[in-house]
Amino acid sequence: MPNVAVIGAQWGDEGKGKVVDWLASRAEIVVRFQGGHNAGHTLVVGDQTYKLSLLPSGVVRGKLGIIGNGVVLDPTALLAEIGRVTAQGLHVGPDNLRIAENVPLILPVHPALDRAREAARGDRKIGTTGRGIGPAYEDKVARRAIRLCDLAEPASLGPKLDELLLHHNTLLQGLGADTFTKDALLAELLALAPRLLPFAEPVWQRLDAARAAGTRILFEGAQAVMLDVDHGTYPFVTSSNTVAATAASGSGIGPSAIGTVLGIAKAYTTRVGSGPFPTELTDATGALLGERGHEFGTVTGRRRRCGWFDAVMVRQAVKVGGIQGLALTKLDVLDGLPELKVCVGYARGGETLRHLPAAAGAQAEVTPVYETMEGWAGSTRGARSWADLPAQAVKYVRRIEELVEAPVLLLSTSPERDDTILMKDPFVA
Ligand code: GDP
Ligand code: IMO
Ligand code: MG
Repeated sequence: MPNVAVIGAQWGDEGKGKVVDWLASRAEIVVRFQGGHNAGHTLVVGDQTYKLSLLPSGVVRGKLGIIGNGVVLDPTALLAEIGRVTAQGLHVGPDNLRIAENVPLILPVHPALDRAREAARGDRKIGTTGRGIGPAYEDKVARRAIRLCDLAEPASLGPKLDELLLHHNTLLQGLGADTFTKDALLAELLALAPRLLPFAEPVWQRLDAARAAGTRILFEGAQAVMLDVDHGTYPFVTSSNTVAATAASGSGIGPSAIGTVLGIAKAYTTRVGSGPFPTELTDATGALLGERGHEFGTVTGRRRRCGWFDAVMVRQAVKVGGIQGLALTKLDVLDGLPELKVCVGYARGGETLRHLPAAAGAQAEVTPVYETMEGWAGSTRGARSWADLPAQAVKYVRRIEELVEAPVLLLSTSPERDDTILMKDPFVA
């Protein structure tokens, strides 16, 4: 099977966008299958920087982009993003972007509820992106979502909005937030319909045809395994399954078409939002990683929390996500550090664990057991061949492969598209 699925192996922002953009030169179709505009994928190509949230990263290379049914789609955010990339000289239209007709929509009630709930949680807040992702997925599962195809049946929208608002206005009122009126939402949806419907189709048919023709498909994950609603650090997670298995259900293609699962991991660890982070560094080294790595959220602008590479967590992501190979990014950020630490176990109550326990209390209690490695004096920044890497950097990568039990197939050494070292092509892995 010539396809590849790219997923995050930590807590997001590992460089999925850069890797998908790089790999897209080898594929014809790039598919988003979960998440929404909570994602922020930054691509640097020459003097242009593209910040994508909903558009599959393949659009920058002119590839066909597909937004699958597993995504939650904010129509206004999508149109704004198309406007932004168009201003940067890209073309995005119904000829190169297709959207699953059964994709659920994010309506203005969703971010309103997301924010009202976060405010009510106070210190216990999840640190969501405030974009309505959780409430939109809740509506999908509760069978009251408005889906893209519903815009083609305007007469059905009124009763659907009645049901939706009965639920949301009750909650919003209880939380002391502003409520919504059906007329305003209906007018907004009717105005959006002619702009959105030209993109809609049963994308499963196109994917099926691509599969039959042997056309290469790249599945682009958002968020990461440790933010997966089942396998992540619950409840400090997003509201979708982020593992590669979701590429099948989230786009309407069978699991045998997913192909090689490529996990993306930074050479250290970061996290936006609240929740446990065993290897977090709140000292000068953490601040240095943040500065060097420009660790500010693409979506939130918030400073990302930084820490050492956690091999226990990435190994777990490899196992539950079925990751067959890794792309290791941001190795350059570690240049010049005299000493590096890698978490190889968690100490808890006199025991050493080789996995992250599921309960939030236990997760908060584990303390990392570190292995210390010598750093390297030379630079890896911009390296484009394995031979250009300092010996100690090679050792670091090799040790990570051993610890996480997966081979490194790609190495990224700067934000720039071409500063990438290919060890083994995942399309032929
Ligand atoms: P994503 O959400 O996984 O696509 O990752 P983001 O784009 O949110 O965050 C990754 C950030 O790191 C972006 O600003 C990238 O431009 C940058 N980046 C990606 N790979 C590298 C790398 O190898 N080295 C450095 N220094 N920056 C990188
Ligand atoms: P990419 O695709 C990093 C985090 C939020 C919060 C939690 C839940 O760029 O890697 P949500 O708005 O999804 O309900 O927030 O998940 N989060 C991300 N963190 N990268 C992302 O996407 C994220 N998307 C959501 O910060 O902790
Ligand atoms: Mg990101």
